[in-house]
Amino acid sequence: MNAPETFVTQPTPGISTLVQAQVESLAGEYQLQIENFQFSENSQLLENLLTQELHGLSHLRITRCICLGLGRFTPSESRWQGDTAEARIAQCRAVMEQLVLLTMVLDVLKKVHPIHEVFFQDPLFTQVDSLFLESLGFTVLQSPEALRELDATTFVFAPYPPNVVVADVFKTCSPALYIGADLTTVQGGNMEEGALSEAARARRLEVFGPVSIYDQSALMKIMPLFDGYHWSRGLCLYWLQ
Ligand SMILES: C[S@@+](CC[C@H](N)C(=O)[O-])C[C@H]1O[C@@H](n2cnc3c(N)ncnc32)[C@H](O)[C@@H]1O
Repeated sequence: MNAPETFVTQPTPGISTLVQAQVESLAGEYQLQIENFQFSENSQLLENLLTQELHGLSHLRITRCICLGLGRFTPSESRWQGDTAEARIAQCRAVMEQLVLLTMVLDVLKKVHPIHEVFFQDPLFTQVDSLFLESLGFTVLQSPEALRELDATTFVFAPYPPNVVVADVFKTCSPALYIGADLTTVQGGNMEEGALSEAARARRLEVFGPVSIYDQSALMKIMPLFDGYHWSRGLCLYWLQ
């Protein structure tokens, strides 16, 4: 896999030195993880999977990417019941790993697709998170602006946002490519019809109407299992055939 572009953070007028230092620290961690990933067997596995499954599909055209629900890069002050400091740090590490995975996927896709815009949306992003992502050349949007950017040439990367957000994507349009939770689990999709409440049945219909075109015309592949990338085990890859 080729080395992805390297971005250098520049001092931003009006941004405090503390914020700037935090952004630079995230940029350093990101660069380190990119290098680790590039030299791992997983990098080759990922490139093989994407090349083998997607590069031959002449009808598939991807021009933009939208990332939904990436999460915060630094632990928040508020704690859930039973939440430990270690768990919160591990959670932030997973968020950085997810960004690294997205970067590597984009790196492979850009070899054949003219992807010019990459948008991020997560209501939890802090100023540091947004500045860090912007320093990498990405655009951060306020919810629900990302939905307005969706079209049939979009690659949606959705590492576990709420199901209702995934449902809104598929209700808006059918993106060319989707990496995220197994769509059959979205909105209780793996439950028996009879076990669903009236409201849940209505929500399922809303989601599975649009999603069903993927059931009929798209293949689903589990992403390669990354050592230590526990969160990636549930990620699936869907594309329009
Ligand atoms: C379960 S967390 C996933 C975080 C991280 N990607 C992970 O795998 O650990 C769900 C994330 O979705 C975000 N989220 C909630 N509503 C959203 C929306 N409308 N658009 C995008 N992200 C949203 C939350 O703020 C949160 O960061």
